[in-house]
Amino acid sequence: MKPVRLIILGYGIRGRTYAAYALAHPDEYTLVGAADPSLDGPPQPGVRFWTGWEEALDADIAADAAVVSLPDRLHCAACSAALGKGLHVLLEKPLGCTWAECETIRAAQRKSGRLVLAGYVLRYSPFYKRLKNIVGSGCIGEIVSISHLAAVSYGKAAHSYCRGNWSVESEGTGMLVNKCTHDFDLISWWMESRACVKIASFGSLFHWRAVNRPDGAAARCQDCPAQVRSGCPFDAKKLYLDEDCLRYHFAERSDVAISRMIETSRYGRCVYACGNDSVDHQTVLMEYDGGPTVTLEMESFSKERGRTTHFFGSRGEILADGRTIEIRPFSGENRTIEPDGTMLHHGGGDCAIMSSFANFINTASPSLANDLFDSSLESHRLAFLAEESRKTGRTISVQPPVWPL
Ligand SMILES: NC(=O)c1ccc[n+]([C@@H]2O[C@H](COP(=O)([O-])OP(=O)(O)OC[C@H]3O[C@@H](n4cnc5c(N)ncnc54)[C@H](O)[C@@H]3O)[C@@H](O)[C@H]2O)c1
Repeated sequence: MKPVRLIILGYGIRGRTYAAYALAHPDEYTLVGAADPSLDGPPQPGVRFWTGWEEALDADIAADAAVVSLPDRLHCAACSAALGKGLHVLLEKPLGCTWAECETIRAAQRKSGRLVLAGYVLRYSPFYKRLKNIVGSGCIGEIVSISHLAAVSYGKAAHSYCRGNWSVESEGTGMLVNKCTHDFDLISWWMESRACVKIASFGSLFHWRAVNRPDGAAARCQDCPAQVRSGCPFDAKKLYLDEDCLRYHFAERSDVAISRMIETSRYGRCVYACGNDSVDHQTVLMEYDGGPTVTLEMESFSKERGRTTHFFGSRGEILADGRTIEIRPFSGENRTIEPDGTMLHHGGGDCAIMSSFANFINTASPSLANDLFDSSLESHRLAFLAEESRKTGRTISVQPPVWPL
């Protein structure tokens, strides 16, 4: 297998994660270029760099593939342009910010015949691969219903969906499309041959609103009176310095750099004064053909971050929480399985998707590339329809997609 010559468009958290994999696996990849306005030199000797993705693609560098890990609003243009240059693309989710953008990418994918692999890293992780095998084995009979919770955690949700990149819907995709296209993807995978026929959704911005701002709270955490700050779990110092679990979001992670970031950036703002309008909780109800039902709950206000899924089958139950899988057949003993794998980097999915991407590039036929991309669009279609239901208050009948010839 020849190493894939790779360029990375958007060298932020995701871009750096994929670059680290490429650099550590020279048998699979050669990192030939990276584009990001924050780069002031090559990320690695011998790697070309540019400040913008357009420049990178205009440079006509010899490359086979691109990772598009740019802000959401640039995905459609950058992915379509990369396909136009004949590159295969690993495209971060959300694929497009609207369904129309997804269709534009599909048209570019069809024209180029290249692969577009969606960044649904979870389905590549050892945990979810094992779970898929178990669910598919029929050990709990037919799936009657699934209850799936995506618990985002109060800190991560405050970071991304109240203070951060996805806090204002019109600037990106809002919380459900950004966060839960992973979950819609897993659900579509588990439901396999069945199609979603009805979808309804409810949700709102419940808590992070001006009306809930404590008396005396300042616009920025560092200016907030101590007695208000001490009672606030969303205080930026608590989240970024004391608890430490969000530091990975930043390229510079020393205490000094994080303190400066809290004082100067959007991440030091009071959560009740961010001008955010993205929901903070949302429930989606789905009916599949033949009658099985699925509920998906996305929740900001959980202490821990993670996904839990409860499958109810005609012959038993399965409970999965990202670490363990408990099988509870109606006849026979319960069994608990702990698949190997790290909890880091999406349970190992970040590395596994890169390995699969190289494999697909070397082996996939154009028809497989088409099928792969079309199946990855299903998750976005459902997420956009759920948003339509939430905004209109209607239950939506889901029709098969109609693609242009
Ligand atoms: N698959 C997953 O599980 C997963 C997880 C997190 C984020 N994401 C997605 O990955 C994408 C990137 O997220 P991130 O967390 O790495 O964000 P990030 O902000 O850390 O990275 C985005 C990078 O793009 C750069 N950029 C902006 N404009 C550019 C331009 N014109 N040309 C080149 N670079 C430009 C920014 O400087 C930044 O470094 C987002 O779309 C996000 O939704 C996916």
